[in-house]
Amino acid sequence: MQAETELIRLDKITKNYRIGHEWFPALNGISHVIERGEFVAIMGPSGSGKSTLMSILGCLDGPTAGDYFLNGKKVSDLSENQRTEIRNREIGFVFQAFNLIPRTTTLENIELPMLYGNVRKKIARAKALEKLELVGLADKKNNRTNQISGGEMQRVAIARALANDPPLILADEPTGNLDTKRSNEIMDFIRMLNREKGITVIIVTHEPDIGGYAQRRIHMRDGLIEREN
Ligand SMILES: Nc1ncnc2c1ncn2[C@@H]1O[C@H](COP(=O)(O)OP(=O)(O)O)[C@@H](O)[C@H]1O
Ligand SMILES: [Mg+2]
Repeated sequence: MQAETELIRLDKITKNYRIGHEWFPALNGISHVIERGEFVAIMGPSGSGKSTLMSILGCLDGPTAGDYFLNGKKVSDLSENQRTEIRNREIGFVFQAFNLIPRTTTLENIELPMLYGNVRKKIARAKALEKLELVGLADKKNNRTNQISGGEMQRVAIARALANDPPLILADEPTGNLDTKRSNEIMDFIRMLNREKGITVIIVTHEPDIGGYAQRRIHMRDGLIEREN
């Protein structure tokens, strides 16, 4: 295994949550490598630590112990500002609940995070349009988020995640709120991003059919990787 193909390295990652005076273990020493260009599904029962692992991978939360290397950089050595920059530039997030801004057009939903990131208005507009076209919703650019279907909402959310052309997409239960037909459409699209655009994709799902889209499945149990296939 060559180091330059490595995108993610987890080295004995532990995460404990504190509630009052007690500590609850969520991750119990996970070591794992994900290569650039992989499409990986994290699977496992509720409470097994999937979302906790995703928030560490997304630099949204730090481990209690252990090291996380992203792109060769040790994340715990970075400042809060540097972590924010990595999140904005290198990671696209897709959520189960879409997390779109209400009463706002699809175009603005993609544009606004870029404007907060100090991208110039004209460039943000052009990029937002380009990504909306990529997800096949250019004709809905002036629709507000309550004027599109659930499947379309998730496509807008994916377009937003792609705005800064991140090399990594993290999606936690991206099809959790969609019916089978829409789920398959979203997964076909995510697979296209992986195969044709070379984007590394990590999704969380507890559905075997959805996990089937990935090249590799990591099965978690009690905060550990139990097996993979
Ligand atoms: N913010 C939190 N505070 C306390 N405990 C948490 C928190 N988030 C998750 N947990 C606990 O950590 C364990 C793993 O949770 P989670 O990562 O959400 O699992 P999954 O996504 O696989 O359902 C569970 O026991 C859960 O109750
Ligand atoms: Mg979860």
